[in-house]
Amino acid sequence: MHPLIMVSLALLIETVASDQPKQVLPGCNYTCGDLTIPYPFGIGNSTAQHHTPCYMDSKFELTCVNNSKLIRPRGIEVLDINPQGQVEMKFSVSHLCSNGSSSSNNTEEANRAYLIVSPHTISSTENKFITVGCDSYGYLNSNFTGGTYSTGCLTRCYDFKPKIVIGNNTGKCTGLGCCQVDIPSSMKNITIEAFKFPTSTLSKENSCSYSFIAKQGSYKFSVDHINNLPNETFPLVINWAITNESCQIAHTTNSYACKKNSECVDDDPDYDGYRCKCLQGFEGNPYLPGGCTDIDECATKTHVCKNKANCNNTLGSHTCFCPKGQTGNGTKEGGCQKVHLNATRIVLPTVLGAGALFMIFFLIYQRRKFIKLKEKFFRQNGGSILEQKLLQRKDSSQIAHIFKENELRKATNNFDESLIIGRGGFGTVFKGELDDNRIVAIKKSKTIDESQIEQFINEVDVVSQINHRNVVKLLGCCLETEVPLLVYEFVSNGTLSEFLRTQGKTNDLTWKTRLRIAVEVAGALSYLHSAASIPIIHRDVKSANILLDGTNTAKVSDFGASRLIPLDQTEVATMVQGTIGYLDPEYMQTSQLTEKSDVYSFGVVLVELLTGEKPFCFGRPEERRSLATHFLSCLKKDNVFEVIQDGLWNEENKQVIMEVAVLAANCLRLIGEERPSMKEVAMELEGMRLMDKHSWINADLNVEESPLLAS
Ligand SMILES: *[C@@H]1O[C@H](CO)[C@@H](O)[C@H](O)[C@H]1NC(C)=O
Ligand SMILES: *[C@@H]1O[C@H](CO)[C@@H](O)[C@H](O)[C@H]1NC(C)=O
Ligand SMILES: *[C@@H]1O[C@H](CO)[C@@H](O)[C@H](O)[C@H]1NC(C)=O
Ligand SMILES: *[C@@H]1O[C@H](CO)[C@@H](O)[C@H](O)[C@H]1NC(C)=O
Ligand SMILES: *[C@@H]1O[C@H](CO)[C@@H](O)[C@H](O)[C@H]1NC(C)=O
Ligand SMILES: *[C@@H]1O[C@H](CO)[C@@H](O)[C@H](O)[C@H]1NC(C)=O
Ligand SMILES: *[C@@H]1O[C@H](CO)[C@@H](O)[C@H](O)[C@H]1NC(C)=O
Ligand SMILES: *[C@@H]1O[C@H](CO)[C@@H](O)[C@H](O)[C@H]1NC(C)=O
Ligand SMILES: *[C@@H]1O[C@H](CO)[C@@H](O)[C@H](O)[C@H]1NC(C)=O
Ligand SMILES: *[C@@H]1O[C@H](CO)[C@@H](O)[C@H](O)[C@H]1NC(C)=O
Ligand SMILES: *[C@@H]1O[C@H](CO)[C@@H](O)[C@H](O)[C@H]1NC(C)=O
Ligand SMILES: *[C@@H]1O[C@H](CO)[C@@H](O)[C@H](O)[C@H]1NC(C)=O
Repeated sequence: MHPLIMVSLALLIETVASDQPKQVLPGCNYTCGDLTIPYPFGIGNSTAQHHTPCYMDSKFELTCVNNSKLIRPRGIEVLDINPQGQVEMKFSVSHLCSNGSSSSNNTEEANRAYLIVSPHTISSTENKFITVGCDSYGYLNSNFTGGTYSTGCLTRCYDFKPKIVIGNNTGKCTGLGCCQVDIPSSMKNITIEAFKFPTSTLSKENSCSYSFIAKQGSYKFSVDHINNLPNETFPLVINWAITNESCQIAHTTNSYACKKNSECVDDDPDYDGYRCKCLQGFEGNPYLPGGCTDIDECATKTHVCKNKANCNNTLGSHTCFCPKGQTGNGTKEGGCQKVHLNATRIVLPTVLGAGALFMIFFLIYQRRKFIKLKEKFFRQNGGSILEQKLLQRKDSSQIAHIFKENELRKATNNFDESLIIGRGGFGTVFKGELDDNRIVAIKKSKTIDESQIEQFINEVDVVSQINHRNVVKLLGCCLETEVPLLVYEFVSNGTLSEFLRTQGKTNDLTWKTRLRIAVEVAGALSYLHSAASIPIIHRDVKSANILLDGTNTAKVSDFGASRLIPLDQTEVATMVQGTIGYLDPEYMQTSQLTEKSDVYSFGVVLVELLTGEKPFCFGRPEERRSLATHFLSCLKKDNVFEVIQDGLWNEENKQVIMEVAVLAANCLRLIGEERPSMKEVAMELEGMRLMDKHSWINADLNVEESPLLAS
C-alpha cells in the first residue's frame, strides 16, 4: 500500500474512534466481544490508575470470559448495557414437562427459576411475564420489604385442538396456548414457577408448561411451543441506579456520583435510587471524573443557523449571528439580509442634508452620554468586582452571566407592565424571554444601599453557583441600570402559598404531593445550610417563597434577605428581617441569626401543608391568630386532627401525618438549640415518604393465598 494512503487511512480510523468517546476510566477495557461497557460498569482493575477498580462499586463489577461473554456475579450473562440505566441479561425459562402416562395428578415438582438482581430492580415497563402451554399456569413470586407477592397467568385448552384454533404461527401471545401479564415494579428477588392442571381426557401426549420473564417483544409465540419451547433463556431488562438514595440525600454525601455538567434524576418509580444525566447541550458519561462535555452544535450540524459560519458555540448551547453589515438573526428561518442604503440616499434632498448631519451629531452625542451613564452604573454597582471574581473562577459552567441592559429590555418588551408577575416590598418581578428563547424571571429591586454593594456582589457570586434542582437558579445579573437587575430561571406554576389558598387548586395537592414538596424544600434548605460552598441562611422561608413548576416540583426562591455566614462563626447579628407568622421567636428577641431560624420557619411551612391555613391572620380569634401556636396547643391536647385540612387524612396516611405533625412541633421549639438541624429534618421526612410510598405492600400481603390471578 502507498504510504500516503496508509497515513490517511490511519487518520480516518483515528477520527472515527474519537467520534465516540470511550466511556471508561483510563487503563480499562471498554469492550468484551461486541459489547461495550460504559462506566459505572467495568471489568477488573485499571492498568493505569494504581490498579483501582474499573467499576464504581461491586454491584457494577463484570467479568469478561474468553473475550466474548460478559458475566455478572452469580454467573448471569449480560447481553447489553444502556448507560441511561438499563441492563439486558439472560434469564432461564422455568419448565414443567409431564409424561403422558403419569400426568393424572398435580404433584410433579416444578422446575423453578430464581433470580436475585438486588440492589438493582427488574424493569416493570420493559418486561412481561409469560406462560406457554395448554392447561398451564405460572407464578411469579417476589419478596418485598417484609412480604411475598405473587402474580401470574393461566391458559387452558380443555379439549379444543390448539393448532386448528390458533393456526400454525401467529407470533402473538393472545391467551390461547400463551398468556402474558404486566409485572409490578421494584422487584429485586424473584422465583418463577410453571405448573400444570391435572389434565383432562384430551392429551395423553407429552405436554409442557413454560413460564418466564422476557423483554417485551422478544418472544414470538408459535403453536409448536406448546409442546416444545426451543429457548432455554430469554433477555430480561433490569434497571440500575447508583445507590438507593434519593437525589436530595445523595447530593449531601461524599459519594455523590453526578459529575460536572450533569444532573441527578430520581423521579422514575421503576428505579430504586438515583441516576445521573448530562445537562441539555452536554454529552458524555456523567459518572466519569471529567463529567459531561459541551456539544459543539456548530460542528455536529445540530445547530439551527443558516451556515456553520453563522454559528457560535456556547457552553451548553449555541447562538447564530450575521456578519458585520448585515441584519437578521442568522438562523435557518431568519437568515441574514444586506442593508440597502442607496434608495434613501438618492431621495434625500440635499437641503435636508445639513439638518440630518446635525441630527446625527446630536444623536451620537446623546448616545455617548447614555453609554457613559451605563458605565457609571456598572462601576457603581460593583461590575468590575464581579467581573474580577468571575475571571478567577475556573469552572466556567457555573458562573453568573452579566447581562446587558438592552438584552433585558428586549426580553421584557421594555419592562412592559403586562409582564409583571410579582410585586412586593422588595421590588418588581417581570417575566421575560431572552434571545435564546429561555424564559426567565427578572427581578428589579427598589433600591440598593451603596455600602452594601460588595455584599450584594458576593451574594450574586455565591448564589449563582448553587445548582440544586429544588432551588431557583440565579442565571445572572445586569449592573448597567441604576438598581441592579437579577435574572432567575422562570418557574411556571406560581407559589405554594397561592396553591394552598386557591379554591380548586388545593385539590391537586394530595398528601403525597405535599409530603414530597416538604421533602424537596427540606433538602434544598439543608443543602444551602451545609453543602453550598459557603453556608447560606435563607432568612425568609415561607410558602410564598416556594415556587412550583409544571410537575409541582418545589423550588426555593428569594434569597433577597439571605446573608452568607462567614465560615468561622455560626451566628450573625443583623437587623431583624422576615415575615410575620414565620419569624423565629428566639431570633426576634436576640437578633442572633442561626440556621435554626430557618428550621423554625420551615416548621411553620410544614404546619401550613398540614392545615392549609394562613400562618397569621388578624381575622381569626386571638388564640388562633398565630397558626403555629394554635397548632401546638391542639397537638398538646391530643386533638391535632381537628386542625388538619379536611379531606387530607384517612386511615392509611394518618400515622405518617401524625409523625410529620410531631416533626413540625420539634422544628417549632422555642429554643433554637433544641430544634433538629435542617439535614436531620430532611432525612426524617425522606424516611417518612418512603414509608408512605411502600404502605400499599401491606395491603397486598395475602395475595399469595388465592391460587390463580389474571389470565
Ligand atoms: C483488557 O483486555 C485484554 C485482552 O482481552 C487483556 O489482556 C487485559 O488484561 C484486559 N485489561 C483489563 C484491565 O481487564
Ligand atoms: C484489584 O485490586 C484490588 C486491590 O486494589 C485487589 O484486591 C484485587 O484482587 C484486584 N483485582 C484484580 C482482578 O486484579
Ligand atoms: C472459553 O474458551 C475455551 C476454549 O475455546 C472453552 O473450552 C471454554 O468453554 C470457553 N469458556 C466459556 C465460558 O465459554
Ligand atoms: C414416560 O414414562 C414412561 C413410563 O411411565 C417411561 O418409560 C418414559 O421413559 C417416560 N418418558 C419420559 C420422556 O420421561
Ligand atoms: C398422585 O398423588 C398422590 C399423593 O397426593 C401420590 O401418592 C400418587 O402416587 C400420585 N399418582 C401419580 C400417578 O403420580
Ligand atoms: C422470600 O423469602 C423467604 C425467606 O425470607 C424465602 O423462603 C422465599 O423463598 C422468598 N421468596 C422469593 C420469591 O424469593
Ligand atoms: C431472595 O430469595 C432467596 C431465595 O428464595 C431467599 O433465600 C432470600 O432470603 C431472598 N432475599 C431477599 C432479600 O428477599
Ligand atoms: C398448519 O400446518 C400444517 C402442516 O404443517 C397444515 O396442514 C395446516 O393446514 C396448517 N394450518 C393452518 C391453519 O395454516
Ligand atoms: C428462541 O429460539 C429460536 C430458535 O432457536 C431462535 O430463533 C430465537 O431467536 C430465540 N429467541 C430468543 C429471544 O432468544
Ligand atoms: C439502601 O441500601 C442499604 C444497603 O445498601 C440498606 O441498608 C438500606 O436499608 C436501603 N434503604 C432503602 C430505603 O431501601
Ligand atoms: C461567540 O461567543 C463568545 C462567548 O459567548 C463571544 O465572546 C464571542 O464574541 C462570540 N463570537 C461571535 C462571532 O459572535
Ligand atoms: C429568527 O428570525 C426568524 C424570522 O424573523 C424567526 O422566525 C425566528 O424565530 C428567529 N429565531 C430566533 C432564535 O430568534
